[in-house]
Amino acid sequence: MNAQVVELNKAVAGLDAAEILKYASDLFGKEIAFATSLGLEDQAITHMIVKACPEMRIFTLDTGRLYQEVYDLLDKTQARYSHKIEVYFPDTAAVEQMVNEHGINLFYDSVEKRKLCCHIRKTQPLKRALKGCKAWVTGLRKEQSVTRTNLQTVEWDELNGLIKINPLLDWTEKQLRDFIDQHHIPYNPLHDQGFPSIGCQPCTRAIQPGEDVRAGRWWWERPDQKECGLHQA
Ligand code: ADX
Ligand code: SF4
Repeated sequence: MNAQVVELNKAVAGLDAAEILKYASDLFGKEIAFATSLGLEDQAITHMIVKACPEMRIFTLDTGRLYQEVYDLLDKTQARYSHKIEVYFPDTAAVEQMVNEHGINLFYDSVEKRKLCCHIRKTQPLKRALKGCKAWVTGLRKEQSVTRTNLQTVEWDELNGLIKINPLLDWTEKQLRDFIDQHHIPYNPLHDQGFPSIGCQPCTRAIQPGEDVRAGRWWWERPDQKECGLHQA
């Protein structure tokens, strides 16, 4: 697998983000999908997919704990692009058991319980969404986190046993903002209210100027613990 990842990284070197998406779509056909959280990066990628490779599947994971703004943006985005965004939900029985055993806000109790919640509400549904895929696309950027600075555009995703493609990996925040503005891409209004990174409502808060972009995610945890299981730290 590593050999394929090395080859793919060579193949996409020098391509821009839309070209990377087109290349991946041509290569993997129906066996690739894009995971969107409706964040700023993901909105830019959705825009590119619709233009460059509209046959690519796009899906989102509804954890059941998202901001209303995310649901509003989901509607708005589907209307703007006339492109279906599939919605995946967690397993009902698993959520019920977890909540009845550990409480509705278990994530504040310990890192283990937070990871359990992320596992049931995100990681498991992700596996269902990616069934039959050989590759998936994400909106990861190096700038986002200390855990993401060493990533490559094409990665072997050990957690899911798939190739992971990160077309915006080297993009800066400014580059992203400019692209969104230039193409009038709909985005979450919370991004203008101190939320550079938006996850579930109880686990995300606004940051102060100068704070790390992911400081508002699971703000009560140490920075090196802030991955939810969708992406390996
Ligand atoms: S997280 O692991 O901390 O939650 P982050 O919010 O930075 O991830 O998003 C990174 C990428 O993971 C997104 O660009 C998107 O590809 C994917 N992702 C995160 N959350 C979701 C979600 N709820 N549904 C689908 N994809 C998601
Ligand atoms: Fe649960 Fe918070 Fe993880 Fe969302 S981010 S799945 S609410 S622990």
